[in-house]
Amino acid sequence: MNSITQLFGIQYPIIQGGMIWNSGYKLASAVSNAGGLGLIGAGSMYPEVLREHIQQCQKSTDKPFGVNVPMLYPNIEEIMQIIVEEGVKIVFTSAGNPKTWTSFLKEKGITVVHVVSSSKFALKAQDAGVDAVVAEGFEAGGHNGREETTTFTLIPMVKAQIKIPLIAAGGIATGRGMLAAMVLGADGVQMGSRFAASVESSAHDNFKQTIIATKEGDTQLTLKELAPVRLIKNKFYHDVQNLYTNNPTVDDLANLLGKRRAKRGMFEGDLVEGELEIGQIAGLINEIVPVAAIIDTIIKDFEMAKREVALL
Ligand SMILES: Cc1cc2nc3c(=O)[nH]c(=O)nc-3n(C[C@H](O)[C@H](O)[C@H](O)COP(=O)(O)O)c2cc1C
Repeated sequence: MNSITQLFGIQYPIIQGGMIWNSGYKLASAVSNAGGLGLIGAGSMYPEVLREHIQQCQKSTDKPFGVNVPMLYPNIEEIMQIIVEEGVKIVFTSAGNPKTWTSFLKEKGITVVHVVSSSKFALKAQDAGVDAVVAEGFEAGGHNGREETTTFTLIPMVKAQIKIPLIAAGGIATGRGMLAAMVLGADGVQMGSRFAASVESSAHDNFKQTIIATKEGDTQLTLKELAPVRLIKNKFYHDVQNLYTNNPTVDDLANLLGKRRAKRGMFEGDLVEGELEIGQIAGLINEIVPVAAIIDTIIKDFEMAKREVALL
């Protein structure tokens, strides 16, 4: 039992990060059933689709689960309303100001966690009254901090500043990674890339196969002027890099990105024109396996690494 397992009422301090186009109720409920905390990713869902996923998740697990709400997407008010109406107990907010929704959610008795990429924002989240923070290094998949602070650097720095429980994210896909993060001061870990390549992820199989084929050096953080995002270096990524050689304006970048790139890449499996978001740790992920096997392996690896460290 530690502060994270206690806060959420879960067995292991492992959180499956909310992931657009990957984390519907099937993934979230599988993670919760395996003893971690599953999160439905609201960022790619219309409000009524989110309602459906929450209801299905409630039917698929009697364990705690939550919803991740990236605040950069539209319909946030409606989404928060649905979260309250459907009795969701845990919300992870990201990509926005933690002050905007924390007190609203806390007044409804909801546990609130905010995702940050710096100590400064960790302090802001703590001041806003969140129950815990996720500190995410720039090796992580998905949207990310501009400052390029790595998880190894970020975790001890955030730990030195805040009093509330700390969850490490970015570059963790194994029990050894989890132990390392906890030695640095984290109370739990959030993993995204590892769960994107699971049987229960809602991503297109083309995307899952690409994740397991991804090697060290195959991803890069880009589009910093819009919302920094780590992408696999496919044709779309190279189109972005080509555009950068012409000193593009923010509008030029937004026009190239367009509206449906992430869906096209990760959900529809267009590996050429789509946006393929994954973390650096994809280089270590070699197979698509069920969530229960992923968590089982992580826990065994964690315990083994702990025994090895004790012998040092
Ligand atoms: C495909 C993908 C989509 C993501 N979408 C979101 C999202 O909607 N909201 C969010 O807060 N984080 C999102 N993330 C970040 C994850 O929740 C998690 O923090 C991150 O993946 C951890 O780093 P890792 O990929 O190295 O495990 C996404 C990550 C990936 C790989």
